[in-house]
Amino acid sequence: TGAFTYDPGFTSTASCESAITFIDGDAGILLHRGYPIDQLAEHGDFLEVCYLLLYGELPTKAQKDDFDYRVTRHTMVHEQMSRFFTGFRRDAHPMAVMCGVVGALSAFYHDSTDISDPYQRMVASMRLIAKMPTIAAMAYKYHIGQPFIYPKNDLSFAANFLHMCFAVPCEEYKINPVLARAMERIFILHADHEQNASTSTVRLAGSSGANPFACIAAGIACLWGPAHGGANEAALNMLGEIGHVDHILEFIARAKDKNDPFRLMGFGHRVYKNYDPRAKIMQKTAHEVLGELGIKDDPLLDIAMELEKIALTDSYFIEKKLYPNVDFYSGITLKALGFPTTMFTVLFAVARTVGWIAQWKEMIEDPHQKIGRPRQLYTGATERDYVPIAKR
Ligand code: CMC
Repeated sequence: TGAFTYDPGFTSTASCESAITFIDGDAGILLHRGYPIDQLAEHGDFLEVCYLLLYGELPTKAQKDDFDYRVTRHTMVHEQMSRFFTGFRRDAHPMAVMCGVVGALSAFYHDSTDISDPYQRMVASMRLIAKMPTIAAMAYKYHIGQPFIYPKNDLSFAANFLHMCFAVPCEEYKINPVLARAMERIFILHADHEQNASTSTVRLAGSSGANPFACIAAGIACLWGPAHGGANEAALNMLGEIGHVDHILEFIARAKDKNDPFRLMGFGHRVYKNYDPRAKIMQKTAHEVLGELGIKDDPLLDIAMELEKIALTDSYFIEKKLYPNVDFYSGITLKALGFPTTMFTVLFAVARTVGWIAQWKEMIEDPHQKIGRPRQLYTGATERDYVPIAKR
């Protein structure tokens, strides 16, 4: 029946009103609460951006100190949770581990289930922002068979994360401020992106009144796919597969061939029909990190830059308005920082948690909020009578 508007992929359906993030995809503009992403990434720190996304304004010094203190108080996870990890095969993909462990937070924090209480919503938000890096680092350590490293709360959010991932018990681990700053910037760039697939998933799951930790686990599951957060892993794998600048044209030809399912990973975006503003900052960050580490010629960076140059002058990519997105350069940076590709989407999840929880909070506090319940256009059989199996 034609009673409903059919909008596959929700390309033209607004699912909510939101005051958090603004994107002008044609102009390549991304604003959080009105502040341009490049200014936040250049001057802000991650927890400041978290405060902004959650509460709508940049914090004063006193508000920032209070917020940082509250979040860092929640960075530890219950000791019992470390045993939860051992239930996973050690070669499990860390995103699979994240789905399970973050979902299990709902069982650890029963007291946060009264989502009608603003205080409990706040505590659940703090716990999620604070514990995600700890859980992500534990997933990494479990993956490589090293002991878990406890959070160090006198470090910044990003530096603490690097510490939990790369410190080992018997050696001193020195934070490199340039690399910590790069990590911070990567987190800021991924913090929120309005109604993307995983955020919409969190909102839909939360619209039924479900436990917020379980809703975030649903977001993690959605983010994992290669069309969404999984693209950073896929993009780096693709650059490795291309292997040499001489092979770029062959891969460009494949991406244009409609009979070949191959796509240039890290290219194209549902909303940006102009350069993704995050990709520009990411590219600069990649150069900074490689420079700091003294990596003069990274073959993958060379391939990425040449690939971008060729694609941006190719009529197929011009006509379809396909530009590099945030995931195109993030993989090169994360690899240089020392992360294996399987961790890339996990890092995206760590950063996006604040966006998910800010959007969830906005939804719960919206007086017009209803359970999300899309309709369909039914295309199946008309009514018919049951036939016993012997007569089929
Ligand atoms: N390489 C080659 N062709 C492409 C690509 C690409 N990366 N992206 C889109 N196209 C083509 C597509 O084949 C289609 O052509 P036609 O009109 O002839 O059928 C046209 O461009 C429009 O593509 P679409 O799939 O209808 O667009 P969409 O808005 O549904 O998809 C996208 C957006 C991001 C899923 C898609 O561009 C894509 O698959 N890109 C590669 C994966 C990727 O980098 N994802 C990360 C997105 S940004 C971070 C995040 O969201 O997590």
